[in-house]
Amino acid sequence: MIALLQDKATVEQATCVKLRRATPEDREALLTMYRSFEPKAAAMGLPPRKDLEKWLDSLVTCSNFVVVVEGLLVGHSALCTEAGSGEVAVFIHQDYRSRGLGKLLLGEMVNEARRLGLRRIWGIAELDNLPMLRLAHSLGFTRGEEPGEFHIDLSQQTPHDHEISAT
Ligand SMILES: CC(C)(COP(=O)(O)OP(=O)(O)OC[C@H]1O[C@@H](n2cnc3c(N)ncnc32)[C@H](O)[C@@H]1OP(=O)(O)O)[C@@H](O)C(=O)NCCC(=O)NCCS
Repeated sequence: MIALLQDKATVEQATCVKLRRATPEDREALLTMYRSFEPKAAAMGLPPRKDLEKWLDSLVTCSNFVVVVEGLLVGHSALCTEAGSGEVAVFIHQDYRSRGLGKLLLGEMVNEARRLGLRRIWGIAELDNLPMLRLAHSLGFTRGEEPGEFHIDLSQQTPHDHEISAT
């Protein structure tokens, strides 16, 4: 079980919130986070209820970033590219939500998409996944054609629109 931080200020004031690219050494910590992650399968079937290892294997060719608080891996995002476009997904462990960490990760995914020269970054969430849809909206994503789809046309934006720095 991941330890509960008591309030929002705790994370915001922490000196050791790290946002960084995932490495192979993060695999066990990722599995630990996802084993206790709730709700499972709520984000278009992700994170999966079973075959977590297989799912993580399927993401190795994507850009993976993690958020580590006080040495504990509590957030993960992946940007998977195809034909100049990148699909993003963000996951913050329930004990660490509503503290700005999802915004930190999603902002970095936009920066990564730009570094990769992508024309578009997009994601999809259930229509009742208000936290994800509002998070996306707060970073400038707009509705796509599919229900629950959110996207940014990166060719329309200035380079520093989404820079959010980790402490
Ligand atoms: C969606 C998710 C990543 C958000 O992460 P988070 O760290 O809790 O989000 P943040 O604290 O960075 O919030 C950023 C913005 O998102 C919105 N938001 C976050 N939680 C919210 C909630 N419970 N209700 C409504 N809006 C919410 C707000 O607009 C917020 O901005 P504000 O704090 O200025 O109001 C997280 O809830 C999660 O992991 N959910 C389960 C997995 C999932 O659904 N992933 C989406 C896959 S595409």
